[in-house]
Amino acid sequence: MIQKRYSILLIIFSNILFFNSCTTHKTPEKVTYSEHIAPIIYKNCTTCHRAGEAGGFNLISYQDASSRGALLKYVTTSRFMPPWPADATYSHFIDEKVLTHEEIDLIARWVDQGCAIGDSTNIPAPPVFPKGSQLGKPDLVIKLRDVYSIKGNGKDNFLLMRVPYQIPKDTFVSVVEVVPDNRKLVHHVNAQLLSYDFDKRKDVMKGNVVVDIPEVANTLDAYKQLDLPNDDGTFPMLTFSLTNYLPGVTPPLYPEGIGGFQFTRKGAIFLKDIHYGPSRTDTTDQTAFNVFYAKQKPKRPLKEFQLGTFGVVPTVPPLVIPPDTVMTFHADYTLPNDISVLTVNPHMHLLGHKFLAYALLPSGDTVHLIRINKWDFRWQYFYTFKTMLHLPKGTVIHAQGVYDNTRHNPNNPFSPPQLVAEREGSMRTSDEMFQFIVTYLPYKAGDENISLERK
Ligand code: HEC
Repeated sequence: MIQKRYSILLIIFSNILFFNSCTTHKTPEKVTYSEHIAPIIYKNCTTCHRAGEAGGFNLISYQDASSRGALLKYVTTSRFMPPWPADATYSHFIDEKVLTHEEIDLIARWVDQGCAIGDSTNIPAPPVFPKGSQLGKPDLVIKLRDVYSIKGNGKDNFLLMRVPYQIPKDTFVSVVEVVPDNRKLVHHVNAQLLSYDFDKRKDVMKGNVVVDIPEVANTLDAYKQLDLPNDDGTFPMLTFSLTNYLPGVTPPLYPEGIGGFQFTRKGAIFLKDIHYGPSRTDTTDQTAFNVFYAKQKPKRPLKEFQLGTFGVVPTVPPLVIPPDTVMTFHADYTLPNDISVLTVNPHMHLLGHKFLAYALLPSGDTVHLIRINKWDFRWQYFYTFKTMLHLPKGTVIHAQGVYDNTRHNPNNPFSPPQLVAEREGSMRTSDEMFQFIVTYLPYKAGDENISLERK
């Protein structure tokens, strides 16, 4: 990770040397901050580039942008920012963070022309971001039981957490929103729901709530260390896809009747993965979960399957990547029933290089699912389609991942490269995984017309 940052900085630095930031050479149209650039930045950058957010510096004022002219031009022309690894020429999703060619060109010309401010009285008002929730007033807020201490050792932290709660009665829930406390450091959260039978677990609030992923031998072991089981050692019910978070992400709001959960009186939000970025000073986090109640029992709760590691079909060939090789692996799954796909999530670790998934329909047609031309371990979004995608029974979902285990991969956890493999049950980032996770519903006539866009 750190190596990668250096290499990015080096490229940026050399760019600054060669193409000095705001030199003036005339092009016909005058690009100005007030007229052209501020709207692009406010719409595409400011969510993450403001006080306390993950972006690390502000992109709000003219000064913020003009003092980094060359850098802005570099990160946008290279499509490093805004972060959106999915190839928008292949398939589209809601909340896409992608600049148009015109926008990229405007930024580049603005920088080349000298970063003019234009009519400063005309700069549009910066966007206002709601505090606490992007969705409204939550009915219930569940916080991490204990404040988590993050050491100032400059290392990434990957953890499993159990976030227990107790409520007066079983309650239907429409959506759960992650509200990071330490917004600079919380880099991602993937959460599931544990529902305890009231009598099977005396005290959900007690027990261990945090496990360090690099320290667990396998998944089962981790679950036990986290005190997930009932008092008799059996496991409570687990519901997938409760909620996910990355900087800048607001959970999708599915149409009435789609999705939703049932929170039992005793339960826990299970963070199967929470990642804190590196910090140089000792600090803390107590992330919270905003829970929004629903009037009705979920009619069509979400379902999920995955290809590859832990999946309905295995990775082919088995995921073993010898040193100094670039290898492609795939998984093919034939659908036993008609489904409507809502969301897809490609997952690989540090050796990931490219990802591709498409569906071969029984008619012979191909439907594009997702293509990632340059894998970025840090930005593993859950991509929600703009409308529900009907895939009929007999469709073959094909997913393939390319892994780069050479020294040219700046994220390679080993130097010199070593054999890296999928180890049964291991979630360590230095071991590998290949997964294509699909969130879906059994198909109903008309699903293909249902929009998943935010209203
Ligand atoms: C979804 C959140 C998000 C959005 C939207 C976003 N950024 Fe960033 N940006 C980050 C984060 C986080 C980093 C730190 C590097 C990383 O984590 O990849 C960053 C880093 C940067 C850097 C520093 C690169 C470096 O290596 O020093 C620049 C410049 C930048 N962003 C510009 C922009 C611009 C311009 C936009 C809009 C066109 C934008 N960002 C949109 C989150 C975001």
